[in-house]
Amino acid sequence: MSRVVLGAADGDLVLRVKEATDGDVHVLPPGRLPGDPARLFEQLVDGELPEVLLIGPSAPLQEAFTLAARLDVQCPGISVVLLADPTPETWQAAMRAGVRDLLPPTADVGEVRAAVERAGSTAAGRRRVLRPVEETARYTGRVITIASPKGGVGKTTVSTNLAIGLTAAAPQSTVLVDLDVQFGDVASALGLVPEYALPDVVHGPATEDTMVLKTFLTQHPSGLYAVCGAESPAAGDTVTAADVSRLLTSLAREFRYVVVDTAPGLSEQTLAALDRATDVVMVTSMDVPGVRGLRKELDVLRELCMIPAGRHVVMNLADAKGGLSVRDVETAIGTGVDVVLPRSAAVPPSTNAGVPILANGRRDPVVKELRRLVSRFAATPLMKPGRYRAKHRAAS
Ligand SMILES: Nc1ncnc2c1ncn2[C@@H]1O[C@H](COP(=O)(O)OP(=O)(O)OP(=O)(O)O)[C@@H](O)[C@H]1O
Ligand SMILES: [Mg+2]
Repeated sequence: MSRVVLGAADGDLVLRVKEATDGDVHVLPPGRLPGDPARLFEQLVDGELPEVLLIGPSAPLQEAFTLAARLDVQCPGISVVLLADPTPETWQAAMRAGVRDLLPPTADVGEVRAAVERAGSTAAGRRRVLRPVEETARYTGRVITIASPKGGVGKTTVSTNLAIGLTAAAPQSTVLVDLDVQFGDVASALGLVPEYALPDVVHGPATEDTMVLKTFLTQHPSGLYAVCGAESPAAGDTVTAADVSRLLTSLAREFRYVVVDTAPGLSEQTLAALDRATDVVMVTSMDVPGVRGLRKELDVLRELCMIPAGRHVVMNLADAKGGLSVRDVETAIGTGVDVVLPRSAAVPPSTNAGVPILANGRRDPVVKELRRLVSRFAATPLMKPGRYRAKHRAAS
């Protein structure tokens, strides 16, 4: 059976497709279909490209056609099957967009199975004559830059915990870069003693070959890779914006997640990291100076058109006694707060011990919220056929 991904489907269609594929289907989370193949691939947990993309009837037709047309050009080894009312107009538009097959939304299990098999063998045929699809559509990792206007608001706490959480979702495929070039403390927050630091990684042989680059990274016992900060502020100052851009581009080719910790404010290195970012996590403390600073930084980034598509606001050190509410903060910054991390007495000792709180197995309200932050980036796990069958039997 071909590797199948299903999007824009309701619960009943999901069940039919699971039965038709013997459970071997990756179901995209509900919501809008990604319009861009790269975004679609980010949602696949193991980075392996599908042979068949099934688009359910919940997707607006125009969105389905746009994605199909882009896949047809960028990844011809993937066949798209659309479930929509098969009117002559829809057939015509579907064929023009490169959709391989059109099924009525009510198609039964047998019809779905036959369409998937047909689409799968077309995809396999195309793959034989084309270069391997992974080569042409090689997925680039997500670059997540953590930034804040002010110091001490929890950037390093957020970035180390996010990186540890993503490593659990993508073992050996997450790297954390300390771009606080003068006073970076990622190594200390992770309890690492690096052999090489940021300046070694951006100057010299590691820049020439990604295999060599990997040998310059420091490994954490969890499977996380790290580029630790410079040993001295002077050494850190040798790292330019161009060095940062080149490094992040190379890492994004090798890793699913590239998490970037930064210094407070908008240094040239931070701007370079924002320029390369797919996502920014803006961190603020829950007090008036912190919130004002964030407002100004968001305004500047908006003017520079440097807010990436993925924008996440984290309010840290939340404390009911401070006199500000989440609503006050949202009004002041003119945008929503996505994750609220409570002030917790368990965090400073974890920083001091060099063991991020997500790695030390503690139960604490801040752990739950950090997991929520991780889940904004980690893809939904692939449903394994065995697990599906066991569940299915239990339900019947
Ligand atoms: N939610 C929290 N509850 C309690 N303490 C916290 C919390 N988040 C961070 N801290 C503590 O605040 C201190 C500063 O955090 P952190 O180093 O992550 O900030 P930062 O923004 O990276 O600082 P800098 O700008 O200096 O790099 C640390 O001692 C950390 O343990
Ligand atoms: Mg820091």
